[in-house]
Amino acid sequence: KIIPVIMAGGKGTRLWPLSRSNAPKQFIQLVDEKTLFQQTLERVTDAAVYEAPVVITNQDFRFTVAEQAREVDVDLSAIILEPVARNTAAAIAAAAFHLKKKFGEEAILQLLASDHVIDAGKDWSEAIATARQTAASGKIVTFGIKPTEPATGYGYIEQGEPLSSGAHKVKRFVEKPQLAAAEEMLTTGGFFWNSGIFMCRADLLLDELGTYAPAVYEAAEAAVAKATIDLDFVRLDGPSFQKSPDISIDYAVMEKTANAAVVTSAFAWSDLGSWDAIRKLVEKDENGNVVIGHATVMNTENSLVLSRASHLAVQGLKNVAVIASEDAVYVGRLDEAQEVGKLVKLLAKAK
Ligand code: GDD
Repeated sequence: KIIPVIMAGGKGTRLWPLSRSNAPKQFIQLVDEKTLFQQTLERVTDAAVYEAPVVITNQDFRFTVAEQAREVDVDLSAIILEPVARNTAAAIAAAAFHLKKKFGEEAILQLLASDHVIDAGKDWSEAIATARQTAASGKIVTFGIKPTEPATGYGYIEQGEPLSSGAHKVKRFVEKPQLAAAEEMLTTGGFFWNSGIFMCRADLLLDELGTYAPAVYEAAEAAVAKATIDLDFVRLDGPSFQKSPDISIDYAVMEKTANAAVVTSAFAWSDLGSWDAIRKLVEKDENGNVVIGHATVMNTENSLVLSRASHLAVQGLKNVAVIASEDAVYVGRLDEAQEVGKLVKLLAKAK
């Protein structure tokens, strides 16, 4: 069976001010009643396909994770706790070391982001089956999504030769390209967005990390060897884990490995990574607006207006996001929605 590993330690700063450092995007109610983390758990509960899921997250979120899993009735096999955030390469390495000990070298891990919206219907199940077979044959499998615009917030996968499993080799992986490069890849064709979900055998994942990111590998190995276990919580050793560089799996391994494969699929996918992505996903009124909560608009087009607090009124604007949480307000152009994270950094400095 596949072991689902849910990565739930990100900050989701592009959705400020709803997503906050103490309550990031994956754990909050955005547009649905269930949080994105809960929706992710529900996607991997088919006992014929999956073992009980493992969550890797920051220690600050341990009770949120346990509580939200309980609410949707999903039993977790472990919650691995990072003492500090060191990005996805270190999180994945630690999970792989821990799971290799428990399930053996050939255990197949599916690494899932905790903050995506996916239609887990037939296309998804077929993609998982193909990925499983491809991963078992010794590949790091990515899931490719057909790109619709030259987005700069994603990884791009160039599809190579076909493999017998129905997947393809990856010719090239480019993480978060500049706009001109993204436009060029879209024009050239044969490129897919990286969905941020991976499937791989634990031993291969660790081999590749050891080759391309040895400092991450060593820090994670020591952090797992010296971890303390406390009920479901696996607490990674702080001094060891802290030594890991802060780098994502995409830069650390995916851009460098020669063993990547891609399964392309038509399942509906959104990473809800920005206010713009949220507006695209939700049903719009006749003026292209999405209005959520205590808000009214007039003479306004193609905008996202959301209030969780006092009444919000927007007049005469186009292509903007106006977001009011209980204690903060954001107003910005939707075409700059990828840059909100930078603004949040400025804000933190100003405090
Ligand atoms: N445990 C843990 N620790 N999880 C983390 C950490 C960490 O330090 N940092 C991020 N995560 C989790 C996030 O919560 C999210 O579920 C997932 O890992 C992806 O992290 P992001 O930081 O949001 O990645 P991204 O969106 O910028 O880029 C990735 O996803 C894109 C698709 O959404 C890349 O894989 C891109 O190539 C991909 O296109």
